[in-house]
Amino acid sequence: MLDTLGRPLRSLRVSVTDRCNLRCEYCMPEDDYVWLEREHLLHFEEIARVVDAFTALGADKVRLTGGEPLLRRNLDQLVALLAAKPALADLALTTNAMLLAEQAAPLKDAGLMRLNVSLDTLRPDRFAALTRQNEFGRVMAGIQTAAVLFRDIKIDTVVMRGVNDDELESLLDFGASIGAEVRFIEYMDVAGATRWSPDLVLPRRDILERLRARYGSVSPVVEPASTAPADRYSLPDGRFFGVISSTTEPFCRTCDRARLTADGVFFACLYATDGLALRDRLRGGATPDFLASLIRDRWRVRLDRGAEERLETKNRTVFLPVAALRANPHLEMHKRGG
Ligand code: GTP
Ligand code: 5AD
Ligand code: SF4
Repeated sequence: MLDTLGRPLRSLRVSVTDRCNLRCEYCMPEDDYVWLEREHLLHFEEIARVVDAFTALGADKVRLTGGEPLLRRNLDQLVALLAAKPALADLALTTNAMLLAEQAAPLKDAGLMRLNVSLDTLRPDRFAALTRQNEFGRVMAGIQTAAVLFRDIKIDTVVMRGVNDDELESLLDFGASIGAEVRFIEYMDVAGATRWSPDLVLPRRDILERLRARYGSVSPVVEPASTAPADRYSLPDGRFFGVISSTTEPFCRTCDRARLTADGVFFACLYATDGLALRDRLRGGATPDFLASLIRDRWRVRLDRGAEERLETKNRTVFLPVAALRANPHLEMHKRGG
């Protein structure tokens, strides 16, 4: 099943809660937010039914996201439910690692395959300023525990010019020390990034130039079949890293991702402002077949290329102002999974 631009649906990002225990500058910089109501959150069995509908249409990768997914109680039970589905080739999680020291082992036992952790700095003072929580130690403990248990673990670093761009080398060293590949992510103007400005973006070109100056060379790894957002590179010492350049060189042309909010709204793009609400249909008893037909109808007319359209915007500032986000909280990045 292809969308209007010829893109298949392969990957589903499922947000399991909109709550977060950090307040990262690039995602949740405001003082207060409008939260989803608890009774509106999909139950695990409902999430599993939606996943069945997506896999019937060709999706074979699921990533659990938030907010912070580890805040959802008994998350390992959802992982076990999904891990038992033969149609899923990949089951992963994106987390800020705050609760990972306790949860890494139960998640692994439940069948979680891969883990991406967010880490933007190795300096406790800077961590506190960037996240508004003095919890650097806890996050590091979580990452260290997970790195022992999971073979496939990545570190996601949002690079902000003048904020943490002096830590590229030390983050690469840290990644190597725990066997994790680091991905440097361009600061994106997603909804919710209400302090975004173009001067804060360190483009891929600059990231690579700095690393080339430091290490002598960076060589692109050729992966023609990849639809992953990261382009990978290797250093002369044999280490690998990735760059996700959604701001200056988006990957919309090969984007095969769908998103589901914790209360069951399906969005066909990170920047989409309209979603398809599935919760009431689920609660009305919709079968996976019927859900699949709704999703198929939406996917077939999909023309979304949000990040490319942002790139084409003249005099680019924030995507959506705070008032628009308060009026429609579903637009927030923390509602639809980073
Ligand atoms: P892998 O399968 O491990 O490559 O995961 P991933 O990179 O898709 O997942 P992750 O949650 O770690 O996302 C990393 C970063 O990629 C996010 O923080 C975003 O900056 C970017 N990203 C993720 N999804 C999208 C998307 O749908 N569109 C765009 N433009 N960027 C995205
Ligand atoms: N720009 C880039 N990545 C972002 N994320 C959230 N907000 C942004 C943004 N404005 C991503 C980061 C973080 C994950 C939870 O969401 O990768 O690690
Ligand atoms: Fe996909 Fe939209 Fe992200 Fe482009 S901006 S890569 S279409 S989700």
